[in-house]
Amino acid sequence: MDIDWIRKQIPACQRMIYMNTGWSGPSPKSVVEAVKDRLEYESYEGPTTRPVYESGRKVQQMARDAAASLLNVTTEEITLTQCTTDGLNIVVNGLTWSEGDEVITFGLEHSSVLVPSFHLQERHGVRIRVLGLHPDDSQEDILSRVGEAITDRTRLLFFSHIQYTCGLRMPIEGLRGLTKPRGIWMLIDGAQTAGHIALDLRALDCEFYSIPGQKWLLGPDGVGALYIRGDLISSVTPTRVSGRAVLSYDDQGRFEPNVSSMDKFQLTTASSPLAAGFTEAVRLHQEVGAEAVEQRALSLSKHLKETLSEVSGVSVVSPREDSLSCGLTSFQVQGVEPDDVVARLWDDHRIVVRQVRELSCVRASTHLFNTEEEVNKLAAAVKGLVS
Ligand SMILES: Cc1ncc(COP(=O)(O)O)c(C=O)c1O
Repeated sequence: MDIDWIRKQIPACQRMIYMNTGWSGPSPKSVVEAVKDRLEYESYEGPTTRPVYESGRKVQQMARDAAASLLNVTTEEITLTQCTTDGLNIVVNGLTWSEGDEVITFGLEHSSVLVPSFHLQERHGVRIRVLGLHPDDSQEDILSRVGEAITDRTRLLFFSHIQYTCGLRMPIEGLRGLTKPRGIWMLIDGAQTAGHIALDLRALDCEFYSIPGQKWLLGPDGVGALYIRGDLISSVTPTRVSGRAVLSYDDQGRFEPNVSSMDKFQLTTASSPLAAGFTEAVRLHQEVGAEAVEQRALSLSKHLKETLSEVSGVSVVSPREDSLSCGLTSFQVQGVEPDDVVARLWDDHRIVVRQVRELSCVRASTHLFNTEEEVNKLAAAVKGLVS
């Protein structure tokens, strides 16, 4: 893996220490070119001319194929979305709910999980069980809490594969072991996984999984993908519909719904330039190799955790055990507010990180393109803030 070459492909790497991929990743040149080329082609050749129109459909199809290949599922089980949250909403609001049904989720979750859940409670009388979750929790802690919360009304376990606050990797296999025998579905927020850790949804054995393009995949904003297991596509009703949600219709009110194809979730105009950028982002990621990316992100974050632990006045919030860790490292600096840490790291060192309100901490993302030297610079800059 030639990290220097990869860094040269990402202009942001030459201008700053970019450690905020968990929010949005800096796109490599080839991704930007793919978006630009398609946009220019459409503009020069006329957006509705036959070659542009027909190739536009192919570009959309290729992006779906790319997402399917990334997740090891079939293209027919994928729809392109705008972002992770879009996909989560399609599922949560498209399932049929009865009053008293129960959904289990966790208190540390992103608002994109919690708020759609609370809306279900509001609109359908679904009971939302919000379980405690802490960065120090062991797999056993999490599994026993979920095991105790399951009742015969539980229908869905809704959670993030990687917790965005601290990088805790959820014990999917164990959770599957609890849900599958009881017929409970899993809706997984993959905002922090695609392009970061190796994914195989067949092995994961979940029902629904939503990913973005703009974070660890380093794709453009505005395009992501949703997986719905083939046999469940007909169980999710689209809440926003257009011509693709029907197989036929007439002006007398007769229509035949499109029940079993993911096309039903697509509205009318979709951006081919963004789809082209997404496809290129997936291609690059696969060229490097998902396992290699995962290992590098993890080893850089391990180095960061070790280095920060040696700084007095700094405490690492993220889990330490490899199986629960990834490229997200959260930490607290004694006596300095997280917002101030973020501001000073940028103003004084051109280091980009973010604050996390829920744990009153600062979070650094270490991706493939980051280096040990950058990690050391971050640790030194943080040390400077303490003294
Ligand atoms: C766990 C999690 N879910 C959802 C989101 C929102 O992602 P998107 O903008 O792709 O909807 C984020 C963004 O940081 C996240 O970390």
